[in-house]
Amino acid sequence: MAKCDILLGLQWGDEGKGKVVDVLTPRYDAVARFQGGPNAGHTLEFDGIKVVLRSIPSGIFRNNLNIIGNGVVLDPLLFRTEAEELEKSGIDLPSKLRISRKAHLILPTHRLLDAAGEKAKGNAKIGTTGKGIGPTYTDKISRNGLRVGDIELDFEARYQAAKEKHLATLGLTDEQLSEEQRKLEADWLDAIRYLKKYTLIDSEYEINELLNRGETLLCEGAQGTMLDVDFGSYPFVTSSNTIAAGACTGLGLAPHRIGDVYGIFKAYCTRVGAGPFPTELFDETGELIGKLGHEFGAVTGRKRRCGWIDLVALKYAVMINGVTRLIMMKSDVLDTFETIKVCTKYKVDGELTDRFPFDAATRKIEPVYTELPGWKSDLTKVRSEEEFPENFRNYIAFIEKQLGVPVTIISVGPDREQTIELKK
Ligand code: GDP
Ligand code: IMO
Ligand code: MG
Repeated sequence: MAKCDILLGLQWGDEGKGKVVDVLTPRYDAVARFQGGPNAGHTLEFDGIKVVLRSIPSGIFRNNLNIIGNGVVLDPLLFRTEAEELEKSGIDLPSKLRISRKAHLILPTHRLLDAAGEKAKGNAKIGTTGKGIGPTYTDKISRNGLRVGDIELDFEARYQAAKEKHLATLGLTDEQLSEEQRKLEADWLDAIRYLKKYTLIDSEYEINELLNRGETLLCEGAQGTMLDVDFGSYPFVTSSNTIAAGACTGLGLAPHRIGDVYGIFKAYCTRVGAGPFPTELFDETGELIGKLGHEFGAVTGRKRRCGWIDLVALKYAVMINGVTRLIMMKSDVLDTFETIKVCTKYKVDGELTDRFPFDAATRKIEPVYTELPGWKSDLTKVRSEEEFPENFRNYIAFIEKQLGVPVTIISVGPDREQTIELKK
């Protein structure tokens, strides 16, 4: 039976999912996003161009079908901006892209609610991307959401009712909206009309029929496991299930359809926004990793917090997702380091543990490190595993042994070409 594979982040997002989905896409008939929304920023680099995708799957530059699944939250305005940019580069988007009728719509007032929620939290704010993600998923779960398929129905009335509810929550009247907010609403309504150019589908049927025909699917995760609403570092998480199970609910896939789960991680670790990050570095080493790795958010431009690789959190992510293959990214960023630290355990209240603590947000967690010698050579031009320096092989072997899953792809630079598949 045809299966579908999942590729998802094992850390706090920005592992390089977009790059690898683009590399793997030619092996599949279709690619689908299953959760998240324009909080994601997935970067692709090839033939000297660089593109950041937010709602559109990273398979869009290949000749495949691309699907935005029911688990995604879609902002029509940001979608239009992204889509028009792709159309300018010659991609016939309406012919390649399908959108689930059941995906939920991000309204302009969801952004206001996101901002108000953050303001109300004060110092405890999450540092969201401000795209209205949390409020949109809240409306979905509380059964107040508007779905993409609603644009084919009596949309105007549904939109006005939802907007009024949001304004009441915000303690605002329509008249109190600023010029800028009014302009945003007008543009958003215009973008709803633009959305009608696309084929809206019952994606659960299309996807299951595709698999029944013997075709294959790659499911593209957004964010990362440690941002999962159930298993991440709650409450400093996003509002969706970013884990493998999210592909089942976010696309209408039965669990037995799932084949390989590709778990992707950086050779070190980053996080953007607030929340626990046990291996975070506050010294010049952290600064240097950030500088060498160009660690600035693809969406918000925010500086990403940097630290050493955390095998406690990674082991947890491997377990939750049932990872069958590992992908290590940004190995080249560590090229110049004399020694590289790997966190294998935490010390919490004087006790050693290899579990990610329930109350990570309030506990003092001390990482326990093993130091490995650096490889001190330029990996960016390496194109085969035979060329790997010995210390780099040792680094990979150490991680594989600790996580109990083989590393099958190594990335040594942002370009499509800088990807090495290991022969195992
Ligand atoms: P995503 O959200 O998981 O798709 O990742 P992002 O696109 O937000 O962040 C990954 C960043 O690292 C992007 O700027 C990529 O171009 C870049 N990148 C991906 N792989 C590599 C790599 O192996 N080495 C280096 N130096 N950069 C990489
Ligand atoms: P990709 O797909 C990194 C983080 C935000 C914030 C928290 C909640 O590019 O890896 P939200 O706007 O979702 O309510 O914010 O989650 N966050 C991400 N961090 N990469 C992402 O996506 C993220 N999407 C959300 O910074 O801490
Ligand atoms: Mg990103």
